[in-house]
Amino acid sequence: MTDRMPHFPAGFAWGTATSSYQIEGSPHADGKGASIWDTFSHRPGTIATGETGDVACDHYNRWSDDLDLLPQLGCNAYRFSLSWPRILPEGTGHVESRGLDFYDRLVDGLLARGIAAFPTLYHWDLPQVLQDAGGWYERSTAEAFAEYARVVAERIGDRVSAFVTLNEPGIHTSLGHVLGVHAPGATDLERAYWVIHHQLLGHGLAVRAIHETADKPAGLTNNLAPILALDPSSREDILAADRMDLLFNRQYLDPVLLGRNPADVEATYGPTALQVVREGDAQIIGTRMDFLGVNYYNPQWVTAGAPDNPLGFEIAPPPKDLPRSAFGWPVVPESLTDLLLRLRADYTRALPPIYVLENGTSWPDMHDRFRIDYLDAHVRSVAHAMAEGVDIRGYFCWSLMDNFEWAEGTSQRFGLVHVDFMTQQRTVRDSGRWFADLAAGLLG
Ligand code: FCB
Repeated sequence: MTDRMPHFPAGFAWGTATSSYQIEGSPHADGKGASIWDTFSHRPGTIATGETGDVACDHYNRWSDDLDLLPQLGCNAYRFSLSWPRILPEGTGHVESRGLDFYDRLVDGLLARGIAAFPTLYHWDLPQVLQDAGGWYERSTAEAFAEYARVVAERIGDRVSAFVTLNEPGIHTSLGHVLGVHAPGATDLERAYWVIHHQLLGHGLAVRAIHETADKPAGLTNNLAPILALDPSSREDILAADRMDLLFNRQYLDPVLLGRNPADVEATYGPTALQVVREGDAQIIGTRMDFLGVNYYNPQWVTAGAPDNPLGFEIAPPPKDLPRSAFGWPVVPESLTDLLLRLRADYTRALPPIYVLENGTSWPDMHDRFRIDYLDAHVRSVAHAMAEGVDIRGYFCWSLMDNFEWAEGTSQRFGLVHVDFMTQQRTVRDSGRWFADLAAGLLG
């Protein structure tokens, strides 16, 4: 018997998270425009299983039954994302009311079930037309994002609990724009900073648009991780870890929380990259957020690597003795506590309340003890940070159900609910029942 689960305060949000491209399917329904993920997944060789998200969980048609799963899982909150090209097929200008109606019904469906809505505006599915015009390399995309945020906030802002502006700008930059394994498939290290700057600028503009239009809490969520030196006694490895920490964590956190870049960003990218920055941008990006979203899966280990490595570090395989998910990701729950304590230590009064907006693991079985143990340990890590005084308002499991896991297709299964992709049948896993007990306070 493990110890009893710590007690969580009343009003704590227990949720699950999903994203539009990963679950909706119906890429052409009701006037939707193409997104960069529609384009990318149809390019041969991009998705390990050869699949696309054309059907995914068919959630666009099955949304009402899917929302019925949430009370079964004990959720009082749900994080989903809106597809920008469903609402603005051209990226800007013409609003497709049928697309907006879909999310309007979804929000009403959540409220009817007593579930708080946490919409994310951007979970990586940029309208293809905007990509054709330069995507996140262009300032105009940040401005278009603010316009889209305003359209959405005007329509559903009266009924949602909070808006998440961007999902994981860090992963979108590294996997989508540097390594080329996610949409849009770019491999341009030189201009990575442009992608970061314009996403963060879009975030700041969107926070302002949301506050003006709907007066609702707004914040971004990023994938954050402690970066560990593979050999903690090696000075080179420690420096390498610090360098990756800058690129993975600080270059996103400092601008949004402190309104300035870390000093080493300038040295890292050089003056050409920084040309995209205009007077006043730092203030926009640093617009006070109402919360910070933390997506946590595992820490990362690094070594110094070869001296000619342009990044100044190399990602190392995790220590062999750690348990690993079906995806091969190591399980290190105490790193989540370290991360949350570090946020408070580094940002002190600039740190708003935190929501853990993604945490979970890939495990295929229906009787998924592995996931239960993973979630149990990570929820305890959250409780530990709270007991140390970190203001954490909710915990969202990734994911509600198995879905289209980007470049892995449906081969990686993160759901509390199993999906049979041949029949679209949903079946609650053991972990789903465990989550319901957790949320109901029955484990404490
Ligand atoms: C995160 C993404 C989410 C999902 C999980 C497993 O990086 O935000 O869409 O793919 O990883």
